[in-house]
Parts: sequence; structure tokens; C-alpha cells
Amino acid sequence: MDRVPVDYMRRDAVDCDKLFDDSATKGAEMKKIGIVIVGYGYIGKIHTLALRQLPMIYPDSASDFELVGICMRSEEKAKRAAAEAGCRSWYSDFENVLQDDDVNVVDLVTPNHLHLSMIEGAIGKGKHVICEKPLSVTRSEAREIVTTVQHSGVSLGMIFNYRFIPALMKAKEMIDKGLLGQIYNFRGEYYHTGYQNPERPLTWRMDIDKSGGGALVDMGVHVIDLVRHLLGDYESVQAMTETYISKRPVEKGSKEMGDVSVEDAAWLNVRLKSGARGSIEVSRFATGTLDDLNLILYGEKGALRFSLMDANFLYWFDSAVHQPDPGLAGWQRLETGQAYPGAKLPTSRSIIGWTRFHTENLYRFIRSVKDNTAFLPNELDGYEAQAVLEAAYESSASGSWSKVKTWTELES
Ligand SMILES: NC(=O)c1ccc[n+]([C@@H]2O[C@H](COP(=O)([O-])OP(=O)(O)OC[C@H]3O[C@@H](n4cnc5c(N)ncnc54)[C@H](O)[C@@H]3O)[C@@H](O)[C@H]2O)c1
Repeated sequence: MDRVPVDYMRRDAVDCDKLFDDSATKGAEMKKIGIVIVGYGYIGKIHTLALRQLPMIYPDSASDFELVGICMRSEEKAKRAAAEAGCRSWYSDFENVLQDDDVNVVDLVTPNHLHLSMIEGAIGKGKHVICEKPLSVTRSEAREIVTTVQHSGVSLGMIFNYRFIPALMKAKEMIDKGLLGQIYNFRGEYYHTGYQNPERPLTWRMDIDKSGGGALVDMGVHVIDLVRHLLGDYESVQAMTETYISKRPVEKGSKEMGDVSVEDAAWLNVRLKSGARGSIEVSRFATGTLDDLNLILYGEKGALRFSLMDANFLYWFDSAVHQPDPGLAGWQRLETGQAYPGAKLPTSRSIIGWTRFHTENLYRFIRSVKDNTAFLPNELDGYEAQAVLEAAYESSASGSWSKVKTWTELES
């Protein structure tokens, strides 16, 4: 049954402040932001965990939102997922999410090729979207999404969860304050293991039409975004990619083999508009690694080093402090732990865990919807990452440097 489109959360339709203003509701119960998680695979469950712990970390958020339901393709699985996640609704068809007036935010955690149509569907119904990286499968899809969002009055937030690690939040603050001066060069790496096993079956991640690319799209996009977040826009890239195993079982245990159409590893040389030069390297064939994302930045006044497997600290080499006495030169270890302003649990000195960055990313998006304020990272950040990915694949095919088609250049 078709229902009237939900538009009460549209920024162009109403004054959103009134929704959360006691005097406007005259004592009636305030409407919570209704969220549905679409896709309940690995990351859908992580988002559920994040949303479930949010009211304990930020008690004020308890009245802001409700995890209304879960959407999956199978009715039975969706029902089971909703029970596990502790929410009242389940959906086996995304159309039903769109028709539900209780849903204000679509949390998109589906395979990459579904992002475009689901974003357009959600925006068409005036629902906000929080979208897992990458924004889409191609740059042209990302461009379409930016245009749609910018004409809509709703907001689209990206999950680039590593921006929300206190150590990297500190790095951003230090760079913006000029503590490193001009950044000369940098290196970003993201290494996983596990694809060396030839028995590992094909999934949507190894199908270029569904994923948009391999290790570079899946893991590299995080590093690409972090470099831009910390150091500014890209100018051009030169890339090389490699696929080590090109045929795999079509499903677990099957003798039938299918083609892998994405890369297992990629190497990028990078020029940024700021003048900084660097490299980005990603691999799913990095034997002996776990979740090894490393970043090192060398500047005029100092250097910064971060490792995801050592995420409680940011390492800082301050040239100014050590210059008078080279014998005392060395790196300082800044204790960043889980220093999130306003968080009630746990203490900032407690060690941080991987899901906490997702929690913060989701929390800040929900707050922005509630407060009707701008949220970053948004669709433009999604677009810019996609433009770098496209340039990298073009370069890998041509063997030449490839210019990154940034949004500002497209628009000028
Ligand atoms: N930020 C991160 O740390 C991170 C990590 C891994 C994955 N991701 C991203 O999250 C997204 C999902 O990845 P994943 O690892 O959870 O994948 P997954 O394959 O584990 O799960 C995908 C889920 O989507 C569901 N789905 C597929 N088609 C659907 C449809 N039409 N309607 C509703 N549900 C549908 C599947 O049933 C499954 O539950 C991808 O965009 C991926 O890039 C982000």
C-alpha cells in the first residue's frame, strides 16, 4: 500500500528545530529520529552494536533516536536480525523502508553497487542517509549522488570511520594549527591478509561491477580519504595494481571456478594540490598482518606517525623542541586513548577498540540531523575519494599519471 511520503525531516519542508523544541511539542513526547539499518552483514552488525551502546556513552542521545528496524533480502533473516538487534520492525524489501513514515534515516550498509539506487530512493522520500564507504561504484555515480543530494534538502553522511579515531582527530588539529608547517611527503598503507588462500570463494567484493574495485576500493579508500582529510585535495596519481589469484571457487567448497575481476593489491604515487608528495599502498596479500593501517607525515616543523594496531597513541617528532640539542632528539608518544569530548563511558585513558570509531561517526551524524547542522564527511567527501579511485584505475591501465577530477574543478 502506498503511503504519503515522509517529509517531516526534510530541511526544506519544515523548521527542524521545532521537532526538538519543548515549547513546540507542548509536552507531547518528542519524536525520535527513526533509523533503519539496510544490510545486516558484517558491518550492519557493527552499526547495530554502535547504535546500541550510544545511549550509554552519550546519555543525551537516548532520546534522540530509535533503531526502528533491519532490512535484508530474506524475510526470515530480516525478522531474526531485528530480534537480535532488539528492534520492532523488519523489512525484506527496501521499498517498504521507504514507505515507512517512522523512518527518517536510512543507514546504508549494503554492497557498493546498491548504494546509488538506495540513496536516490531514500532521498526521493525525504529521508536522510548515512552511507558506508565507498559512496558508489564509479565516479560518475558519485557525481549523480552529489547532484541529487545538493538539490534535496536532506543530508548524506559518509562512514569514513577512521576520521573519528582520537589520535587522528589530534593529528588534524595539530596540522590545522600549523604545528607541522608545510607537509613535504607522506606514506599511507593498509594491509590485510587472508586472500592468499585460493579456496577463498568469490563474493561481491571480487566482482568489479558490484564493488567498483578490489583492495584499493575496499581498504585503500580509507587511506585516500584520510590523506585528503589531513592534507587537502589530490592533484594527480600514478598507480600499479596486481591480481595474484584470478580464478576462485564460485562458492565455498565448489569445484566450479569463476573470474576475479578486481585487484588484490595496489601502489599509488600521489601529488597533492598543497605540493605534498607521497605514496599509498594497499594489499590483501600482506602475510602476517591483521588490520594494519599506517600513516606517516613529514613536515617542515615536525612529523606524525599513526598505526591502527597501536591506535591509543599518536607519535610526534617536534623539530623545534629538539633542534638545540640533537642528542635529545626523538619521538614523543601522545596519549590519545579514547579522548572523545563529552563521552561519559569509559574514561579517556581506557584503550580504544575498533568499533568505537564507527560509534562516533554514527553519533555525530545523528546529532547533525537532530540539530540541523552540517555533517562531515558528506557526499562531496565520498565523491572526492571516488575521483581518486577512478584516476588510479585509469593510470594503472595507461601506465601514465592521471589527473584527479575534483568537484571544484568540475563545477568551475
Ligand atoms: N567502514 C568500514 O570499516 C567497513 C568495513 C567493511 C565493509 N564496509 C562497507 O559496508 C558495506 C557492506 O559491507 P559488508 O562487509 O557488511 O558486506 P556483507 O556482504 O557482509 O553484507 C552485506 C549485507 O547486505 C545485504 N543485502 C544485499 N542486498 C540487499 C538488498 N537488496 N536489500 C537489503 N539488504 C541487502 C546482505 O544480505 C548482507 O546482509 C560495503 O559498502 C562495504 O564497503 C565498511
